[in-house]
Amino acid sequence: MGKVRVGVAGYGTIGQRLADGVALQEDMELVGVADMAPTLAIRALYEKGMPYDLYLVDGADKGEFDKLGIPVAGTFQDLLGKVDIMLDSAPAGIGAKNKVLYEKAGIKAIFQGGEKNSVADVFFHGYANYEKGVGKDFLKLTSCNTTGLIRAVDCLDRAYGVDKVAITIIRRVADPGDYHRGLTNALQIDKAPSHQAVDLMTIMPHVEATGILVHTPVTHGHIITVVATGKQKITKEMALEAFQKHPRIRVVRIDDGFKGNASLFKYARDLGHTRGDMYEIGLWEDSIVESGNDIMFAINIPQESVTIPETMDGIRAAMGMQATSAEGTAKTNEYLKIGLFKGLGL
Ligand SMILES: NC(=O)c1ccc[n+]([C@@H]2O[C@H](COP(=O)([O-])OP(=O)(O)OC[C@H]3O[C@@H](n4cnc5c(N)ncnc54)[C@H](O)[C@@H]3O)[C@@H](O)[C@H]2O)c1
Repeated sequence: MGKVRVGVAGYGTIGQRLADGVALQEDMELVGVADMAPTLAIRALYEKGMPYDLYLVDGADKGEFDKLGIPVAGTFQDLLGKVDIMLDSAPAGIGAKNKVLYEKAGIKAIFQGGEKNSVADVFFHGYANYEKGVGKDFLKLTSCNTTGLIRAVDCLDRAYGVDKVAITIIRRVADPGDYHRGLTNALQIDKAPSHQAVDLMTIMPHVEATGILVHTPVTHGHIITVVATGKQKITKEMALEAFQKHPRIRVVRIDDGFKGNASLFKYARDLGHTRGDMYEIGLWEDSIVESGNDIMFAINIPQESVTIPETMDGIRAAMGMQATSAEGTAKTNEYLKIGLFKGLGL
């Protein structure tokens, strides 16, 4: 098989990172990105010398791009004619409209968490149900919280079996720079059960899940606490052993200075990661605690970058590049250099 040709629709918070992620996969080619307006992300792309070709979706005003000197490679239709698969990271709801265009062009697509589940054939997670996505035309990725949550729960489930989880999500209310969400100083509770718990059950139907979500006025990362009931008693040592082995889980300690979400964001910047991204979820070793037969722990979700690896897994599944989760996730991890810091898989 030649390189799989990939396009990105919507070069925003997620789209920029998806484009960078695809560009790093040696068995894929990023053909281009599509957007609507000369946003700051597009201006930054221009200032960086247009590493990715830009295509304009219907309704975009090309004159605005011309005025700024931003080169345009063609229309959305042109892009669709050159790719095998589109990664749709347009604002929630637009993906469902774009799907009609993907169907007409005879190409596959992967949608992000803001779309309804009905947009896709399979609600997808690279570790928990990769095989269900193999060869399918339309996948929908789990949202950022659900992606990280399932990583951790699936990790324990594979090692020891899990019957039940109860979660609390402390959810960052906006991404950095989201002025349209206002300048807030309040917490807000969602109706239970949170969609992430329901989503987990859709992908892992053998696990009973429920939870509560609290919106918090911060931008750098969600924190989720999980209480899990194993098929057998999972001790702190057993949980830690499984988490340490998982390439996409970074086990950290409060005593080392990882005090919270901001420490992980700052650490990613200190590592020199683009935009302060981190592909792994953080998991606090000092948060793992036994409660009777249950095990409880806290994870950090870097919401802007956490879904990128699982989306790369989605391309691998949909295009039939690798047949199993183990092979597909290993390839993604290799190209994104995930797990390198713990000497895993590379
Ligand atoms: N931001 C996060 O933390 C996060 C995490 C996981 C999943 N998601 C999901 O990813 C998707 C994208 O979210 P985002 O935060 O990146 O949004 P965003 O607003 O940052 O970016 C959306 C981009 O799409 C462009 N756009 C607008 N109309 C378009 C159209 N018709 N066709 C193509 N592009 C268009 C916008 O100009 C913008 O650049 C949503 O489904 C969201 O729920 C977001």
